Amino acid sequence: MYSNRKSFIIKLLVVACIIYLCIHVLTNNAAPVIRELQESGRNLAALDSSVNLEQTALAQEGDAKEVLPVVESTKPVVKPSSEVVTTELPKKQPTVLERVKELTQCLDKPMVPKTQQRGDYWVLYNYITAEKRFRCQESITYTTHADYSFMDNLVPLLERWRGPISIAMHAPGTDFANTLESIAYLRDCTGSLVKEYVTFHVYFSTKHVPKEVPKHNSIFTEPYNCSVTPPFLNVSAENMYKAQKKLLYPVNVGRNVAREMAQTHYILPSDIELYPSPNLIEMFLEMIAENKGPLLSKNPKVFPLHIFEVSANQPVPDNKTVLKEMLANSTALPFHKKLCPGCHSVPKAKEWQMANETKGVHIFHIGKRNGRFIHWEPIFIGTHSDPLYDERLSWEGKSDKMTQGYALCVMDYDFLILDNAFLVHKPGIKVYKKDPKRSMLAAKTNQLIRKIIFPELKVLYGIKKGCAV
Ligand SMILES: *[C@@H]1O[C@H](CO)[C@@H](O)[C@H](O)[C@H]1NC(C)=O
Ligand SMILES: *[C@@H]1O[C@H](CO)[C@@H](O)[C@H](O)[C@H]1NC(C)=O
Ligand SMILES: *[C@@H]1O[C@H](CO)[C@@H](O)[C@H](O)[C@H]1NC(C)=O
Ligand SMILES: *[C@@H]1O[C@H](CO)[C@@H](O)[C@H](O)[C@H]1NC(C)=O
Ligand SMILES: *[C@@H]1O[C@H](CO)[C@@H](O)[C@H](O)[C@H]1NC(C)=O
Repeated sequence: MYSNRKSFIIKLLVVACIIYLCIHVLTNNAAPVIRELQESGRNLAALDSSVNLEQTALAQEGDAKEVLPVVESTKPVVKPSSEVVTTELPKKQPTVLERVKELTQCLDKPMVPKTQQRGDYWVLYNYITAEKRFRCQESITYTTHADYSFMDNLVPLLERWRGPISIAMHAPGTDFANTLESIAYLRDCTGSLVKEYVTFHVYFSTKHVPKEVPKHNSIFTEPYNCSVTPPFLNVSAENMYKAQKKLLYPVNVGRNVAREMAQTHYILPSDIELYPSPNLIEMFLEMIAENKGPLLSKNPKVFPLHIFEVSANQPVPDNKTVLKEMLANSTALPFHKKLCPGCHSVPKAKEWQMANETKGVHIFHIGKRNGRFIHWEPIFIGTHSDPLYDERLSWEGKSDKMTQGYALCVMDYDFLILDNAFLVHKPGIKVYKKDPKRSMLAAKTNQLIRKIIFPELKVLYGIKKGCAV
């Protein structure tokens, strides 16, 4: 009786042990599989959400509660694959994002706040970060620079871009507090897009450090009072600290900071007043994933966008079909047509304007920065390997992108001009205004480029026939 009972207990213990071991082994092995499933689910969800952004974003806009990035991994793992990949496919075909990852071999980057010196400036990198995070293949980051008086552009820009934005804000002295107020207003009072997508970096000269700089993790402790006027509206330039202290706008410091912090492989370094045509991100990544034609060339590549401006009372066109109608009745014009016709003209511009809109985005023409386009300052989708901008040049001095242009030319970049995508400047057509102070600075900048920077570039990048700054 006793021994029977004993052996029964032993048996019970053995069985319990085996069950315990089984569970342990199973869960340990299963963990990576589950993680992988979650990862791939997140990828699919990310592309899917960008494909369906039109609807989801509209739904989210009125929504005060934020959708945190973590929530994405709980989305259904299995998605109908036809939504994700362009061609007919059996199950195993890689998705667009998997193809982009494979082709670019890109690496994910962490988003870490840090305070660092950069030449004559202090930079608060990743000072206020976006809630959504992107893996390197998952999107394109629009990188840009501004002071707070330009912040009215951020929401119209996001409504069309609906992807990550990395922005460097110049905020010396008392402009710093207004900058923080503006950011707070945009994050708390304009729907969810700014919080979701925009990462702010802030910088100022070491000679113009603000009186107080809160730590990055203790900035916005209270919700912003949204019934006040947005702090960035109707700012008169002469009231800004920058103007009172007669500071120049260090445009290329801002450009480089924003670019370096972008988490995605592809970036669109741009000016905040230039709004991209909708759906560009997903159409562009689909084109990259197809990897055909000029994309197979060994030359380094960038993807310039045509730029237009529209009259002040006009809406920004949603697609090329509408843009063409507006060009036909002169409510839209090629950018700076009245200001500086040569500066932004793009190879095969006439043909581009004639061509009808098609589905998706493709390469319309392979341009080079030479001949008639020797001084071309294109805005393009590129990558982190493209040369940066010279931080000695200011916005007021003009020619601030010329040195990059020279480097691209010497390195024999292909300028793969896209067909159905374009940028439109914030409504209002610019006309020429005399600005003697700016002309004087521009002359000084030309001297600096000719005498100092150009000789450096010749040493560093070399010389090539047909290339100029
Ligand atoms: C918010 O601002 C408005 C307008 O300035 C003011 O009337 C109101 O009292 C403020 N609300 C809070 C909670 O401070
Ligand atoms: C800003 O200025 C414009 C035109 O000068 C005016 O119509 C608008 O009401 C002003 N907005 C605010 C918030 O003061
Ligand atoms: C272009 O945009 C207009 C206005 O938003 C819209 O009615 C039209 O269907 C769009 N066309 C295409 C081809 O997407
Ligand atoms: C020009 O064309 C656009 C797009 O079709 C239209 O919305 C606008 O009313 C037109 N403007 C004039 C002045 O004809
Ligand atoms: C372009 O579109 C217009 C208007 O829809 C049409 O009349 C024209 O035939 C098209 N051109 C070509 C080359 O397809």
